[in-house]
Amino acid sequence: TINREYNLIITYGNLSPDCVQVNVSQQSSLLVNGQFPGPEIRATYDDILIINVFNKLESEDLTIHFHGLFMNNTPHLDGVPYISQSPIKPNASFTHVFRVQLVGTFFYHSHVGLQAITVFGPLILEDKLSQSLSDIVLMLSDWWHTDRLIQEQGLFSPTFTFVGEPTSILLNGKTMYNSSYTCSHGYHVINVTKNQMYRLRIIGATTLATLNFAIAGHTLTLIEVDGNYVKPLEVSYLEIASGQRYSALFITNNITDNYYMFADVRWRKNIAHNGIGILHYENASDAPNTIVPDKSLLPYLPPETNIYLADSLQLQNDTLSLPSNADREIILIGTQVRNYDGGIRWAMNNVIYISPNSSYLLNDLYFNNKSLISSSNDLSNLTNGGYYAPDNTYPIRKNEVIDFVIQNTVALNGVCEGHPYHTHGHNFWDISYGDGEYDPNNLSNIHVIPHPILRDSIFVKPSAYAYYQYVNSTNYKKSCGWKKIRLIADNPGIWPLHCHIVSHMMMGMQIVLEEDLQDLRILYAKDLLTSRSTSIFTTIFTTI
Ligand code: C2O
Ligand code: CU
Repeated sequence: TINREYNLIITYGNLSPDCVQVNVSQQSSLLVNGQFPGPEIRATYDDILIINVFNKLESEDLTIHFHGLFMNNTPHLDGVPYISQSPIKPNASFTHVFRVQLVGTFFYHSHVGLQAITVFGPLILEDKLSQSLSDIVLMLSDWWHTDRLIQEQGLFSPTFTFVGEPTSILLNGKTMYNSSYTCSHGYHVINVTKNQMYRLRIIGATTLATLNFAIAGHTLTLIEVDGNYVKPLEVSYLEIASGQRYSALFITNNITDNYYMFADVRWRKNIAHNGIGILHYENASDAPNTIVPDKSLLPYLPPETNIYLADSLQLQNDTLSLPSNADREIILIGTQVRNYDGGIRWAMNNVIYISPNSSYLLNDLYFNNKSLISSSNDLSNLTNGGYYAPDNTYPIRKNEVIDFVIQNTVALNGVCEGHPYHTHGHNFWDISYGDGEYDPNNLSNIHVIPHPILRDSIFVKPSAYAYYQYVNSTNYKKSCGWKKIRLIADNPGIWPLHCHIVSHMMMGMQIVLEEDLQDLRILYAKDLLTSRSTSIFTTIFTTI
């Protein structure tokens, strides 16, 4: 066990990652330690990570979330403003100290407003296998020429302006907007040597786009999905939604050359087409990374299909098995609604999630004993899918097995959209999906995934049926496809479950799980959670 300490210092910056110099406010682009993307955090299983976050922004709050980590026994370090902690105010700092209890590919990102457009970086948790392979980290993200703060205002304005489709797709923070905008940094270049095996860790750090990714002339063998090893599966391309991560092995060819990588938008209007990078073999001619390539050199990316990759995946560890049934099924219907002021919001089961804006929920509900729901209450009596209005949460009892059915419906403009959902504090089993409306009795519309895997981020597709046929269909319903996940309540805490399209989350597409009140209070009583001091945490971790 090693203590590894990192500082993350968030400041204003001035970025033109796609070579276009845009006229935005000084507060628009944010940097981590002066960099974009932020620095890599790397640790080994069982290490203790000490991460000090400094907010050097003059007028914005900040929190950092470690996407995919469970924060067992430390839910107050999960980095969600006004939920797990009060946000870090300008010129303040916050320290996260926790033991590494997972291995795989993760990332950290801001959980405030649209800051995550640039405030993110890789979080790589190693084990023996990863130490024996050369790894390459590739973060995919989306970028706008619009001022981030103006985008935020647009979302909450009564006249509503959406953030719009990204103008560029970035590979490790770089691309060129189009052929008339070139600049010295050009496309991102990955350097390799011939006849070698690499582990490519691909991180879906977009705030909106779902991407399809491939490397010309190379196949990818998937071995890890969201921190879970899977049986090797060879693919020629990979769909990756916001919040998802994959590790893929690839073997370089016998001839030195340059090959293009390409990440292109799927399931929404695509105006970018520029998510390009270069795989450069040692001794090949200089990588042409400031020249826009001929399209024919880009790898082929097939169009959208209604097939989920999950149908072909299998966990490496066969001792983990899906609980055969759930104690409860909670249906979560995501709908786009008009706000009282005329603006547009997203609601889950008719509730637009509005974040508290003082104190914080974990403190109020657990530490200060303010939760109104008691352990003697029968949670199955809760209406509206298990929503408990007084706490604005979905209470969940210790060790309950819960199925969440996430149902997409048409937006106000009549279009079906896909939504990438992420659970904090948990993995879940990815178990089934279907087109149109979920109906537990209509077995013909329930596609059961043959070998469910565990993950923490899924994409609920717009559904091919609805996506392609809604205009002409006579008996068209407003439902656009669904997905079911199975979650085991084994982690006391307050955990958001939300759409990982950051603007949708801000518009209300979120619920909060209030899980296992009693055990967290016991933990609290033991005094483990009261102190925020690093030294105390270090002591705790070396003694438990
Ligand atoms: Cu990566 Cu709550 O999100
Ligand atoms: Cu969404």
